[in-house]
Amino acid sequence: MQGETRGGPGSGKGTQCEKIVETFGFKHLSAGDLLRKEMVSDSEYGSMILDTIREGRIVPSAVTVKLILRELASGDSHKFLIDGFPRSEENRIAFERITGSEPNFVLFFECPEKEMVKRVLSRNQGRIDDNIDTMKKRLKVFEALNLPVVDYYAKKGKLHKINAVGTEDEVFEQVRRVFAQVSTVT
Ligand code: ADP
Ligand code: C5P
Ligand code: MG
Repeated sequence: MQGETRGGPGSGKGTQCEKIVETFGFKHLSAGDLLRKEMVSDSEYGSMILDTIREGRIVPSAVTVKLILRELASGDSHKFLIDGFPRSEENRIAFERITGSEPNFVLFFECPEKEMVKRVLSRNQGRIDDNIDTMKKRLKVFEALNLPVVDYYAKKGKLHKINAVGTEDEVFEQVRRVFAQVSTVT
């Protein structure tokens, strides 16, 4: 089973993915984490990834899909959750073309912009993109490139919207309900 989590920057995807892993045993793959790992490794893509993340833009799908596939191949889990991907129609189409598969379900964390900004600016993980200037750019990219993907999955009936405002546990209660639903149809 394959799931995906979407939602704007700072909406709480990573936080909820950790809870999903603990409770439902999925393998969690964060596209952003894979890119950051590649960025600090001795990779030929390092400086391109750094520039792209700093500008809040989307890394070309060829690179991101390669990292995801490498990670998928390194484990034996058949239940995985791809966090922060696809971020654009280009991401989605490349992944589907290369793997010949689609997610069984997509979780979308709805969060007001003001709350996302607040969470990102107090995340304190030393990320080069967690500053107000880059955050403004990320929000624009979110509107322009990410939302069309969300619409695509909504039309396919695969999108599950979660209200990301509330405590982590309150948000997770909604996630639980979605899992109860998707586990009976997949
Ligand atoms: P994303 O992966 O969507 O960018 P994160 O899971 O990293 O978001 O969360 C962004 C920040 O917000 C983190 O500092 C996290 O601890 C905090 N956070 C996550 N969920 C909530 C919540 N429900 N309420 C308040 N803060 C939250
Ligand atoms: O999901 P996360 O907040 O960790 O993503 C951080 C940054 O990584 C994004 O703003 C973007 O620059 C890059 N990214 C990407 N393609 C993805 C996921 C993340 O280019 N699919
Ligand atoms: Mg994250």
